[in-house]
Amino acid sequence: MNQLLKNIYLYCDEMSKDRSSLLHQLERETHLKTLAPQMISGKLQGLFFEMLSKLIKPDRILEIGTFTGYATISLAAGLSANGKIITIEANKELKYLSDKYFAASPLKDKIKAIVGNAIEIIPTLKEEFDIVYIDANKKANLEYFNLIIPKVKSGGLILVDNVLWSGKVVAAKKDKDTQLIHDFNQGILDDPRVENVILPLRDGIMMIRKI
Ligand SMILES: C[S@@+](CC[C@H](N)C(=O)[O-])C[C@H]1O[C@@H](n2cnc3c(N)ncnc32)[C@H](O)[C@@H]1O
Repeated sequence: MNQLLKNIYLYCDEMSKDRSSLLHQLERETHLKTLAPQMISGKLQGLFFEMLSKLIKPDRILEIGTFTGYATISLAAGLSANGKIITIEANKELKYLSDKYFAASPLKDKIKAIVGNAIEIIPTLKEEFDIVYIDANKKANLEYFNLIIPKVKSGGLILVDNVLWSGKVVAAKKDKDTQLIHDFNQGILDDPRVENVILPLRDGIMMIRKI
């Protein structure tokens, strides 16, 4: 990222509302205790999710890829009175950390954390979702999308992270992983069941609305 872009990000960060001390502490502990802390959503993306959730006031949210729970807590902020977020994480070694912060959150009763492979768990879910956040194994994005699309309400929102793949999607010659990300983006653009927009926030967030 060049210096101007870094400064713009810092400015956006500073000029956006403060986050809770719980999320601040969660990000700190994620950096201290995990091997790939850069996977965390962080302040700006977390605030964006919180804002979306508060605008939509969803009854049901699904997150694919909990990691340490930062986006889970951010998305949970706008849930309706009886709302619930289900979050799925394949790595059971992260559970002690996400559970610690879910338990400390005022929204703890609205969070259901499942350990397991989302590909196996999604078909067992009975709910219809207002928001789905796809943020797990990037190579499986299309598989997650195909599994969840029948379970998303009409007018519902699907968010997909890392769709710019560190900017590599614009390269004329794409490596195998980048090509997969690009093929997913193209597939969504061509899908008549949805409308989409890509925001160049952090590593790129695709917003998909089911028609
Ligand atoms: C980028 S991190 C998620 C970050 C988190 N959503 C946040 O915003 O802080 C991706 C996570 O997905 C998990 N994951 C990868 N494949 C998965 C699968 N098939 N099912 C469930 N979780 C998976 C990884 O173990 C990792 O913790």
